[in-house]
Amino acid sequence: MRPDIATILKGTQIDTQITVMGWVRTFRNNQFIALNDGSTNHNLQVVVPLDSLDETQLKRITTSACIRATGQLIQSLGKGQTVELVADAIEILGDSDAEKYPLQPKKHSLEFLREIAHLRFRTNTFASVNRLRNALIFGIHQFFQERNFLNIHTPIISASDAEGAGEMFRVTTLDIEALPKDENDKIDFTQDFFGRSTNLTVSGQLEAELAAMAFTKVYTFGPTFRAENSNTARHLAEFWMIEPEVAFNDLKDNADLAEDMMKTVIRYAMEKHPDDIDFLDARLAEEEKQKPANERVEFSLKEKLNFVLDNQFERITYTEAIDILLQSPAYKKKKFKYDVSWGIDMQSEHERYLVEKHFKKPVIVTDYPKNIKAFYMRQNDHCEAGKETVAAMDILAPGIGEIIGGSQREERLDKLEQRMQEMHIPTKEMFWYLDTRRFGTCKHAGFGLGFERLVQFVTGMGNIRDVIPFPRTPKNCEF
Ligand code: 4AD
Ligand code: MG
Repeated sequence: MRPDIATILKGTQIDTQITVMGWVRTFRNNQFIALNDGSTNHNLQVVVPLDSLDETQLKRITTSACIRATGQLIQSLGKGQTVELVADAIEILGDSDAEKYPLQPKKHSLEFLREIAHLRFRTNTFASVNRLRNALIFGIHQFFQERNFLNIHTPIISASDAEGAGEMFRVTTLDIEALPKDENDKIDFTQDFFGRSTNLTVSGQLEAELAAMAFTKVYTFGPTFRAENSNTARHLAEFWMIEPEVAFNDLKDNADLAEDMMKTVIRYAMEKHPDDIDFLDARLAEEEKQKPANERVEFSLKEKLNFVLDNQFERITYTEAIDILLQSPAYKKKKFKYDVSWGIDMQSEHERYLVEKHFKKPVIVTDYPKNIKAFYMRQNDHCEAGKETVAAMDILAPGIGEIIGGSQREERLDKLEQRMQEMHIPTKEMFWYLDTRRFGTCKHAGFGLGFERLVQFVTGMGNIRDVIPFPRTPKNCEF
């Protein structure tokens, strides 16, 4: 197999003849090509011997031209690199008009790069982010596979709303210009492709629960879709989610699994790509320098990640979290935009206060009010009247807010049915979900990790649009 540039730079092929292919980053003095093939941010210096190429050929070695170079790999004399390639043959595989190429060898804003997302893979920042993204994908599969979890493919097209939040994209083949109507003048979905109304899934959890009732330990890793009109740096309309589901686990087991998983995969990605972590650490430090002193974060990226690996996540109940907020100087000085009281769905300013100011580390908040959580969460026994809670958990991470949401599930048929009715979730259509509670039900728990939020956490990227190659957000579906 032809070695990539990351391998070549390790120097083991020194004094041999090799061939490399890649894209030109820079070409200086008509002699030194910095060549990149995406295996690392470090370029291979390709030396073009003087007079070996004529004027027209030299002119074609432009930024982003694709070339093949063959020659001898030698110990480098220049500083900043271990080896260089002295080329005896250079072939231009693909020309690139330097005048028209939008990416110049200089700093571009992340906003500008989003507009040319088809080319931004060729920048160091996106190359590092995507290599780490890849390592996290692999690390997650490895984590679950080593623990004998079964990977389940759950459907992408679905007839039910797993979260009951009504944030779904409809899937239809009906002619939307001329929708068929039934006798009540409602759209007649019996004429639609599936003979019923269907959507893109918001979560694979319900199907994962069915599988856990046979395989004990399962996980999904798939795309999920939310038509929520949230234009924030943490929301995508299309994102990837990892959803483990484990029979016989309770809420504490669930939190233990989540913490272990996060630490294991973060450690794996850091060990796999230390250069990319270094690069992003420096990038973030540079970005922080541009901010006013009171807005800067205390830790560098590497310090933050190492701190997370070395320390236990804080575990508190929702009620304790609300108490901390009510006692906080921020609350007393009216610094919060949204009010705080027991029962609120915490806003991101509250979550950030808890993780960034108060605990300065990831926090697992458990036992949320029943009224702000999904129908499938297990209702806690012995609640104070008017303060009913469910066995829910959210993991809040510094700089991110909610990175994981999960719960122990309601395994008791009567309680689940009652809750579904209260929340207008169709029990008849969801007979299949309720059947698991009819036939051999048991305690079980699971969670959903928002993959892009994990990538943000590991790379220190401030905007979720910069950790997925082609982000889908409200009013934006380019590429
Ligand atoms: O908290 P959520 O909505 O939980 C579920 O979907 C459950 N079915 C999970 C489970 O228990 N199996 O979503 C889980 C995680 C969130 O914590 C967040 O990290 C991420 O998914 N997430 C999003 N990420 C990006 N863009 C969005 N619009 C997101 N919505 C949720
Ligand atoms: Mg949630």
